[in-house]
Amino acid sequence: MLPVIRPEVVPGERIFLTTLLQDDVPTFTEWFADLETTAYLGAVGAVFRVEQEQEWYNSLAKQSDQINFGIIVRETQHLIGTVGLKNIDLLHGTAELGINIGDKTARGRGYGTEAVRLMAEYGCFFKNLSSICLWFVAFNERGHRAYLKAGFREVGRWRGSYQLGGRRYDKVIMDITRDDLDLSRMSALIHQLGEHGHATG
Ligand SMILES: CC(C)(COP(=O)(O)OP(=O)(O)OC[C@H]1O[C@@H](n2cnc3c(N)ncnc32)[C@H](O)[C@@H]1OP(=O)(O)O)[C@@H](O)C(=O)NCCC(=O)NCCS
Repeated sequence: MLPVIRPEVVPGERIFLTTLLQDDVPTFTEWFADLETTAYLGAVGAVFRVEQEQEWYNSLAKQSDQINFGIIVRETQHLIGTVGLKNIDLLHGTAELGINIGDKTARGRGYGTEAVRLMAEYGCFFKNLSSICLWFVAFNERGHRAYLKAGFREVGRWRGSYQLGGRRYDKVIMDITRDDLDLSRMSALIHQLGEHGHATG
């Protein structure tokens, strides 16, 4: 069966971000029936059933303080994961970024770095955010390196706040600000903006 052609909502180079579909729910269920993945995501020992994934999917349309996209590899048109912003606070211009490359074969190929950067650019341009944070568990070196490459920097540690297998690990907090990002890719999406100049700052 040919893969479904998905809308390119936020276009990148090797990937693009798209809207999530009801038909994606079984794929999310497969990704979240994996103890390694849920441990990286902070839900130690949890596996989620299809009903829970369906509930999460249904909640997306109702929640205005979060936005989630699917990550599609341009070459194959395959959905490999999701990336999103939650706790979007329009008063202070802040939000928290989360990502999961659920397809394990797609990890370590640079897609996560690109998705994180696109999501941050989208948030600062279209949601007018000025600062975005994220956290990872100190042993998630792959995440750490991807976030550094995307432009995030470490701002602190919640020492020993994460337990796994009887051991404690730090949660590492990183952030990125609007000034750290080049938003020209986002402003180029609004073709007539060029004629009126692109406000900076
Ligand atoms: C964390 C995650 C988003 C990173 O995305 P990704 O596409 O896998 O990462 P990238 O390929 O863009 O970058 C990974 C970097 O880590 C390195 N890396 C890959 N595998 C690694 C490993 N096992 N250990 C240490 N570093 C590793 C890569 O070499 C690359 O760094 P480099 O380019 O400086 O060499 C993705 O792996 C993921 O979703 N993992 C599962 C869930 C998760 O951890 N979510 C985030 C929770 S905070």
